[in-house]
Amino acid sequence: MANELVIYTCLALATIACVRLVYTYAYNVYLHPLREVPGPFWAKVITNYISHGSGCRAQNLLRLHKAFGYYVRIGPNEVSIADPDLYRTIYSQTTSIKPDTFYQAAKMNHEHIFSLSIENANNYLAGPFVYGKDNYLGRGLTNDEALEEAMGLAFAGSGTTATTILYIIYQLSHSENRGIQLKLRQELQRAPLRLIELRNLVYLNAIINEGMRLHPAIVGSLPRTLLESLEITLGTGLRVILPPGTTVCMQNYVHQQDALAYPDPDEFRPERWLEQPSSSKASQAFTPFSTGSRNCIGQSLAKAEILLAVGCIFRQLDFQLSGETTPGDMEMLDLFAADISGKKLVVEVTKPGIETASGNAKVEFP
Ligand code: HEM
Repeated sequence: MANELVIYTCLALATIACVRLVYTYAYNVYLHPLREVPGPFWAKVITNYISHGSGCRAQNLLRLHKAFGYYVRIGPNEVSIADPDLYRTIYSQTTSIKPDTFYQAAKMNHEHIFSLSIENANNYLAGPFVYGKDNYLGRGLTNDEALEEAMGLAFAGSGTTATTILYIIYQLSHSENRGIQLKLRQELQRAPLRLIELRNLVYLNAIINEGMRLHPAIVGSLPRTLLESLEITLGTGLRVILPPGTTVCMQNYVHQQDALAYPDPDEFRPERWLEQPSSSKASQAFTPFSTGSRNCIGQSLAKAEILLAVGCIFRQLDFQLSGETTPGDMEMLDLFAADISGKKLVVEVTKPGIETASGNAKVEFP
């Protein structure tokens, strides 16, 4: 009798689970407000179908947008958006907020930096934030707040700038871009190496923009939860209302390769920034530091560091890509912040004008 009761209970629970599963599946596919938004079939029913763990999420999303258009449903309640014209609307203070769980996802990718608890916090950079008192708040920081502070110092503040400079060195060292490097050196040799002058060098700034466009240091998705409805128009002309609560995300890696804003988007071509007025589609689609209330707090510092680093090294040194570095090594890994697949860039360095093999020094970054 007792055995029968157990069996019937299990059967009942299994039936309830199946009915729930079928209902959720049917709802997500046929009734959900996002049902008309195109995308891979399984993304309609599986959360995180487009994995964060692969290191090539941004590339996968770019491929999906090429196949499905500006709007792709990438989860039961999540839409990836590639229309650059919508960026400033989505990332405005009134339209959306950053989800609370955001830095928990960052923790997965940066366990070595973020794996702290109250007990072991003193071993990590964030320790002082956990124990210290914030004068403005009048209290100690919560774990999540401390993570944000640690992110500013340890991860947002150094790796991003380093990656940007690294990709600029890579692009200018490439034999195809030899003319760009020489033209930059000419511009640099006419000006003093002070920040105030470097800020006004048009070609240097164009090169930095182009580097950050093609190799955005924050390469991954910036998810936001909609606070208000957002109307989108699909490629078919159908209008869809994304309701409040929908997760939307855009990726610099995707919309900064929009072919309408940037003809031949795969090409490293600084000249495109000299041909455009600041109101152009290219300028509107360029968001390496994001916009709105949660944009990058370190962008002035980052821009200054990049101007000084690129200005100093290309004025004084000549770079050529070593045969040891392959395009595969320089693929961008999406760990939210970008990393390089091959973990290093190898270049031959000489003083300008000395192009003999014997004058070369081989340098590895990092
Ligand atoms: C090339 C260099 C950099 C790039 C491309 C970059 C890009 C970004 C982007 C796109 C965001 C927005 C993230 C989001 O919306 O979730 C961000 C946020 C942030 N950045 Fe940067 N960043 C750079 C350098 C720096 C530096 C030098 C610092 C600090 C010294 C810094 C500190 C931060 C912090 C603390 C946030 C979080 C802001 C918030 O959540 O409200 N970043 N950064």
